[in-house]
Amino acid sequence: MEISWDKLNEDIQGCSRCPLGAGAHHRVPGQGNPQAELMLIGEGPGRDEDESGLAFVGRAGQLLTRMLAAIGMTREEVFICNIVKCRPPDNRTPLPEEAAACLPYLRCQFALVRPRVILLLGATACRYTLGETFRVSRERGRFVVKNGVWFMPTYHPAALLRDESKKRDAWQDLKQVRDKLKELRAGSSSNS
Ligand code: URA
Repeated sequence: MEISWDKLNEDIQGCSRCPLGAGAHHRVPGQGNPQAELMLIGEGPGRDEDESGLAFVGRAGQLLTRMLAAIGMTREEVFICNIVKCRPPDNRTPLPEEAAACLPYLRCQFALVRPRVILLLGATACRYTLGETFRVSRERGRFVVKNGVWFMPTYHPAALLRDESKKRDAWQDLKQVRDKLKELRAGSSSNS
């Protein structure tokens, strides 16, 4: 039986599967359309997210909002979440055991939302969904299809803030996402 959103969020709020929760001001489950066609997965909450309890609201999140707008989408239409739901100290990369402890929550979110396309933001998101050896710099920009779901690996928006030259590639990746959604929608309307 599938878990409900309420139970899932309750579990996340009460979680003690790893030490990160003890240091967090807020747990950050993620937010957006619970039936989104497009799901976005980042790494983990930063300071602004830890303070607000919402995913991607800081500078990287604001850039993400603009990136979505560039493909004609709003944050309300998509579901935005992270590999880990609590802020790692000093924004360090989550440890493998922290990610492993938190991944069941992401799996539940995935099962509830049932997205058709997933945008993977940065190395951590790619590593825990596509495999440990995945390298964003070499392998971004090409869809990986798993069980009928289209995964697009791309740069993390924080990487785009650090290095503007990556924006051009990220834009190409987003356009592919936009086109794939269009194609999938056209396919479903002709089948119905
Ligand atoms: N970076 C992430 O990976 N996730 C957030 O929610 C914010 C910044």
